[in-house]
Amino acid sequence: MAYVIAEPCIGTKDSACVDACPVDCIHPKKDEPGFDEVEILNIEPVECIDCGACVPACPVAAIYDSVDSTPPSQKELIEANAVYREGDSGAVSQAEQIVKNHMSAHADLMAVAPAERAAAHAK
Ligand code: F3S
Ligand code: F3S
Repeated sequence: MAYVIAEPCIGTKDSACVDACPVDCIHPKKDEPGFDEVEILNIEPVECIDCGACVPACPVAAIYDSVDSTPPSQKELIEANAVYREGDSGAVSQAEQIVKNHMSAHADLMAVAPAERAAAHAK
């Protein structure tokens, strides 16, 4: 498991990470099917080479460099990244359902500005 896109991406989907990634492993991109429908972008772990270029590109600090560094309250989003496969509608749906379940479980935090959600989890 490589880098992980987590909760601050929900409601942001800035996509600067896509442009920063040298191996094109972050999806869906703005010009790919399903971009408007998904709540979050995902890093395909098999493709990611752990270069870390995406981390400083994200304006809301949504990307963690490992499973261990992803906050415990956002751990289920690791699974969303893990199952996502661009072009595989079943895998895309499965990943999205994980994200939607997370959003339902943290409805109060979804009202918090994305860049402040990680800190809000800790309260
Ligand atoms: Fe790309 Fe980030 Fe991995 S830039 S290669 S997704 S660490
Ligand atoms: Fe999301 Fe940040 Fe990329 S908001 S789309 S992880 S730049």
